[in-house]
Amino acid sequence: MSLTLPPLPYALDALEPYISRRTLSAHHGNHHAAYVEKTRVLTQRTPLESAPLEEVVHASAPRNSALFNAAAQAWNHTFYWNSLRPDGGGEAQGPMRELIEECFGSQRAFSQQFVTTASDQFGSGWVWLVLDAGRLRIMATSNADTPLVTPVLLPLLTLDVWEHAYYLDYQHRRLEYIAAFLAHLVNWDFANRALAAAGKSAARGTLERDPQLDRGHRK
Ligand code: FE2
Repeated sequence: MSLTLPPLPYALDALEPYISRRTLSAHHGNHHAAYVEKTRVLTQRTPLESAPLEEVVHASAPRNSALFNAAAQAWNHTFYWNSLRPDGGGEAQGPMRELIEECFGSQRAFSQQFVTTASDQFGSGWVWLVLDAGRLRIMATSNADTPLVTPVLLPLLTLDVWEHAYYLDYQHRRLEYIAAFLAHLVNWDFANRALAAAGKSAARGTLERDPQLDRGHRK
């Protein structure tokens, strides 16, 4: 079983006009592909050669920074593609809606905090909506850092705020990219599925992430 680049969960032009075919093609086909390939090369002929990508991320943090950066970026990008969908965005539905209202007070307050966190992130990184001890929290990570390696955190959504994610479409206007994500692209179904998995695993005293995410990396 070798590490492979999972296909996008939608067509290259499916997120237009908010994220262009040109951006998705370069982001998935060049950037994400390069992280997967680097992870594959760095794990060749090592005990991690056939390990699930999540395990490679955990095993490489924090000491093997070259492998961690590649593997975490490979994992983060797959999570990002799943955090987006055509005709997404707007107000959350289902259990996520209730939890957002409980934890942030309102959808509007959630959006405002997300925009502030995403626009304040200095340099390259990621903005996450995570479940932390049953409560929602918005957090940012720098470069390849990921909440995946923090045992108590369960990622529910992410937004890539590296410039390569938006520069072709928005140039320096990160705020417009963040607004487009919230209004038109957020995949609330994905967040609801992650939340449901967390609910089931909490009853067993474990923290479970969507296994489909990792299965996609091995063929
Ligand atoms: Fe990216």
